[in-house]
Amino acid sequence: MSTVTTIERFILDHQPEYASGELTYLLYDIALAAKIIASKTMRAGLVDILGAAGATNVQGESQQKLDVFAHEIIRKLCDHTGRLCLMVSEEQEEPLYIPAKYAKGSYVMVFDPLDGSSNIDVNVSIGTIFGIYRCLDEELRGRVEDALQPAGDLVAAGYILYGASTMLVYSTGEGVHGFTLNPEYGEFLLSYPDMRLPETPAYYSVNSSYYNRWSPGVQRFVNWLQGIGEAPPSLSARYIGSLVADFHRNLLRGGIYCYPAESGRGGGKLRLLYEAGPLAFLMEQAGGYASDGRQSILKICPTSLHQRTSLFIGNRNLVEQAERFICLEDGEQKTAD
Ligand code: AHG
Ligand code: MN
Ligand code: MN
Repeated sequence: MSTVTTIERFILDHQPEYASGELTYLLYDIALAAKIIASKTMRAGLVDILGAAGATNVQGESQQKLDVFAHEIIRKLCDHTGRLCLMVSEEQEEPLYIPAKYAKGSYVMVFDPLDGSSNIDVNVSIGTIFGIYRCLDEELRGRVEDALQPAGDLVAAGYILYGASTMLVYSTGEGVHGFTLNPEYGEFLLSYPDMRLPETPAYYSVNSSYYNRWSPGVQRFVNWLQGIGEAPPSLSARYIGSLVADFHRNLLRGGIYCYPAESGRGGGKLRLLYEAGPLAFLMEQAGGYASDGRQSILKICPTSLHQRTSLFIGNRNLVEQAERFICLEDGEQKTAD
């Protein structure tokens, strides 16, 4: 590579024309949160040695669950900067309002502080997901409505992957760009400029242990992915159980990730606002598509902060095939939440 570009430099050079410095600095804040959470996750395996969660560690501090730690770091880094007027986190039922003593900015951030929590204790990749909206009304900024916007209206979205290396991948609506943390310098360096989904997909990713809980349309679609039926797509199976890691791999190699609705869990498991929505925004920016099986994720207007959705995300032809199977087999009616 002929040049080395830090994330700060890249964000500054590529800030959207409409954006003031606010959005730029907000992305810097997220990059800093990523470094802090990455350094903590690297020590996660030491918990057993230094004391279990809930116990007191050698410094006399009480151990926190990693997802609570990640939530707190992001909140503390972002609530006083004057860039946000509201935050919504998976770890808190209520929205996070900006304390009255701080100025309110124009942006809203929705986030899943630690995604893939079942993988934390087994040393498998985990992540953070974020989405940024502009408030609906500058005068009234900071209302819950500011967060209840369709993912098509996101001004930026991204994720951090805590894997063999730490990566930050984001988009402000002008392509998807990936940065890798160099731990020696503590800098995110541009490693994947303008990420595009490969046209030929390699993988399908679904937890098929739930097969018996799916609708007939979903079952037929997953059969088709597995090569049962006419014109099978010839894909290999990969499933980590951390959405960010599964998404990242499929973004680089092509494929589809599915988390369908199950009977008894009408709208699926994943959350629309801070899981499916931001990733759908990124996927479309990379040339792919995301659907709940009947409509584009980007078009769904959330009615509550923690609402769940089914998710089919990846190469457009595969996701549209899911929609065809589901609509044909299960009827045209909209999935009940
Ligand atoms: P979170 O850890 O934020 O609650 O999210 C867990 C999600 C997601 O990361 C993953 O894709 C999915 O749960 C895995 O669920 P299953 O174990 O049901 O496959
Ligand atoms: Mn999650
Ligand atoms: Mn989470």
